[in-house]
Amino acid sequence: MSDLENLPGVGPTTAKKLEEAGFDDLMSIAVASPSELAAIADIGEGTAAKIIQAARQKADVGGFETGDVILERMKERKKLTTGSKSFDELLGGGFESQAITELFGEFGSGKTQIAHQLCVNVQLPVEEGGLDGHAVFIDTENTFRPERIIQMASAYDMDTDEVLKKIHVATAYNSNHQMMLVEKAMEIAKQVPVRLIVVDSLTGHFRAEYVGRGTLADRQQKLNTHMHELLKFGRLNNAVICVTNQVSAKPDAFFGDPTRPIGGHIVGHTAMFRIYLRKSKGGKRIARLIDSPHLPEGEAVFMVNEEGIRD
Ligand code: GTP
Ligand code: MG
Repeated sequence: MSDLENLPGVGPTTAKKLEEAGFDDLMSIAVASPSELAAIADIGEGTAAKIIQAARQKADVGGFETGDVILERMKERKKLTTGSKSFDELLGGGFESQAITELFGEFGSGKTQIAHQLCVNVQLPVEEGGLDGHAVFIDTENTFRPERIIQMASAYDMDTDEVLKKIHVATAYNSNHQMMLVEKAMEIAKQVPVRLIVVDSLTGHFRAEYVGRGTLADRQQKLNTHMHELLKFGRLNNAVICVTNQVSAKPDAFFGDPTRPIGGHIVGHTAMFRIYLRKSKGGKRIARLIDSPHLPEGEAVFMVNEEGIRD
């Protein structure tokens, strides 16, 4: 008997339909919407809502901690270098662990390049701006390039085979799969110290799957859940969370003006850094920190060259 059959209202037939559609564990059901589940399993929306409710209670979706535990955890926060001094300074020393940093900008603005660089840098010793750990790369657009990692690692004289071995890459086929991969990452993090999780791109699948006005609330809710799962991963593992988000220079129906925060409500206050990237002359890139809770707004100029991200 599958796990799902322990949920009220789920018999063998419904369980089979759900599993075939990729809803094969409690968490994926806990984060589903009633209409979605009803359509997939051929059940009423009322029943679907009850199933979701039960899955939420059974799945471990986080609990309470005391203040002293939170304080201890916050003291452990670390910074991960980008490879560029000015970029690091903009961020108060680098990408912060236990927080989500969103890189957003047009195609070719350098989001994926930075993500690759972080996968290498996270493996550096702490004295050199690294976190002495492994990286998890959730790839939604087949953008991961081992050859590029080799170039970047060679620039630091690192053992390139070893570097590649410490980057755990998975391709997400759709938004549900993308969300489930965060749970898989939790399993990896029990075996090895994962200090960085990348999602490139965070929003691609969600945009493609949730089209039209009527689906926006669902999309928002799912993205929310996804971000919270990522944040939980970062907190449990003292890891940096880096997500990318392609935006066009034109305002978007859902995301609005690309240079303004997404209403701030996707994920709460302190846990979020947003960096707007744009191309400049002569291979230069400009990073702008937007709406940060405890850092001044500002810009940094950096380069993407053969070696990676540099001043
Ligand atoms: P989308 O995923 O399309 O939204 O773009 P992105 O923001 O992820 O852009 P990406 O990080 O892929 O940047 C691509 C740019 O990085 C290229 O146009 C090059 O300018 C630069 N780049 C990538 N690889 C190399 C390289 O090996 N050497 C040099 N010098 N530049 C590179
Ligand atoms: Mg990219």
